[in-house]
Amino acid sequence: MKIHLVGIGGGHPDQITVQAVGKLREVDVFLVADKGASVGDLGDARAEILRRHVPGDYRVVAVPDPERDRKPSDYGTAVLDWHDARARAYEKVLLGLDPSATVGFLVWGDPALYDSTIRVIERVRDFGTLDIDYDVTPGISSVSMLAAAHRLVLNRIGGPITITTGRALGSDVAAGADNVVVMLDGHLACRALVGEDRWGIHWGANLGTVDEKLVSGRLDECIDEIDRVRAELKRQHGWVMDTYLLRAGAEPAQ
Ligand SMILES: C[S@@+](CC[C@H](N)C(=O)[O-])C[C@H]1O[C@@H](n2cnc3c(N)ncnc32)[C@H](O)[C@@H]1O
Repeated sequence: MKIHLVGIGGGHPDQITVQAVGKLREVDVFLVADKGASVGDLGDARAEILRRHVPGDYRVVAVPDPERDRKPSDYGTAVLDWHDARARAYEKVLLGLDPSATVGFLVWGDPALYDSTIRVIERVRDFGTLDIDYDVTPGISSVSMLAAAHRLVLNRIGGPITITTGRALGSDVAAGADNVVVMLDGHLACRALVGEDRWGIHWGANLGTVDEKLVSGRLDECIDEIDRVRAELKRQHGWVMDTYLLRAGAEPAQ
């Protein structure tokens, strides 16, 4: 069975590569994780990408997403258990399809960045019940969108960038990271750095969509506005996704 994992960018139908469109057009059946009402109009963004770019016939099969333990005692094990449950759910649906069908997964942003689809498909392959041949098409990640929206070069000249999560921000900063892109941060973990008076922030939410919001400046001065804009987006759309660059130094982005 042929499977295409296709990076579709962050929500805007224009932010998808020509290569990705070519792959989408080869697909007979798209599998999408059904996350219930929690994703609000995110599902509409995916549907619009297909409507705009795939003129031929295709089917979309929603696969109910397994429950996830949001407050696990061991985060790593909980994620692996969840990948396993997801892999089993996909395996069940794939086994019911014609083996000659080409299957597609629409992967938010770039499949290489904080996304489980590659790992889950590897796991399905490991089960040994399906003959799977898959490929990966890169997408425009939210990190690229953030940088473009703020007209940023993410690294200082010749310097490193740390890309991390809200969960790990505190330990990464304690370990010396001072030029940090933060993703997967549901609670604005950067608030813990307010008062240090050394951080600038470039924040972006729902990047690439018509409701994109940007805030930048000194962290201490911007944090309340970011909190307010974030809450407002969530109220309006049922979802908010944000990514930000934190950089220590005199100016927000030097
Ligand atoms: C599960 S990760 C997926 C990342 C994705 N693979 C990528 O390349 O951007 C979800 C996180 O990506 C970021 N993200 C994804 N889409 C975004 C968007 N449109 N605007 C801002 N951040 C976004 C947020 O940090 C969010 O918590």
